[in-house]
Amino acid sequence: MHQLELLEPISRKDRYPIVNIATVPQRSPFRYAGGKTWLVPRIRQWLQYSGGPDIELIEPFAGGGIVSLTAVMENLVDRVTMVEKDEGVAAVWKVILNGGAEWLGNTILKFQLTPETARDAILKASESLESLAFATIVKNRVNRGGILADGASFIKNGESGKGITSRWYPETLKKRILEIDKVKHRIQFIQGDAISVCEMNADRSNIVYFIDPPYIKAGKRLYRYSQVDHEYLFQVVNSLQGDFLMTYDDSEDVMKMAKNCKFETRLIAMKNTHHAKKTELIIAKDLDWLP
Ligand SMILES: C[S@@+](CC[C@H](N)C(=O)[O-])C[C@H]1O[C@@H](n2cnc3c(N)ncnc32)[C@H](O)[C@@H]1O
Repeated sequence: MHQLELLEPISRKDRYPIVNIATVPQRSPFRYAGGKTWLVPRIRQWLQYSGGPDIELIEPFAGGGIVSLTAVMENLVDRVTMVEKDEGVAAVWKVILNGGAEWLGNTILKFQLTPETARDAILKASESLESLAFATIVKNRVNRGGILADGASFIKNGESGKGITSRWYPETLKKRILEIDKVKHRIQFIQGDAISVCEMNADRSNIVYFIDPPYIKAGKRLYRYSQVDHEYLFQVVNSLQGDFLMTYDDSEDVMKMAKNCKFETRLIAMKNTHHAKKTELIIAKDLDWLP
């Protein structure tokens, strides 16, 4: 029912379908610090307005890629390009998108997770692209908060004292990876710099961008690459022909940069992992599509 609603063309006047947050499928193989699964209902509304069958979505700070995966799997755009700088995260996307989904899924399924085997898998990361991809998946599941930044530590007690296995769902992970495999011909992955890819595509009008840079304050703790020239990013975003949606932590600096570019801003309430409410800023040229 819900799927049908999304696949039907939506006229401008009916473009605010009511979306229940419980309908957001978890499609990413990552549990991503700062991940945007919670924002998917809004992303759908935005893409029903700005996406379409001849539109490409670029996700320059892709991370766990939930927005790209949702856009492709729900046919909100024709194809997507994901860009990510982190070598480990990039290895996962490269392996899945270049024919290694079955291998990765089976390797996850066969793995007997203990602190020792996890350490061993992580130590072997440098042996090949495949080992790096697998090590990254393991780290993402055994590290506290899924944090992949260097120096992050293992979960101690985990859910109901299950320790490092508390976030290890091998069948689910394999299933998600195989679902991505089915749409891989519509996904391009670039290991590279987000801002450069935006600049390269700035003149193209049949593109939309979902831009989710590392948080200005918390980014350093969460990601290996967290330094972004935010002023410059805003300048580049201001030069894009295509539509965009950006998300940021709510701060005075960000508001100032958005105001200088005459972008619209709106605070959105979200629940974080501890179910405490916090707010996140969304920024766009035009937020008319927001109910
Ligand atoms: C806030 S996270 C994105 C989360 C993503 N939207 C999700 O839902 O999973 C920001 C990501 O940007 C990546 N990153 C940081 N600097 C980058 C750069 N210059 N180019 C590309 N990716 C970068 C980080 O490694 C991190 O994965």
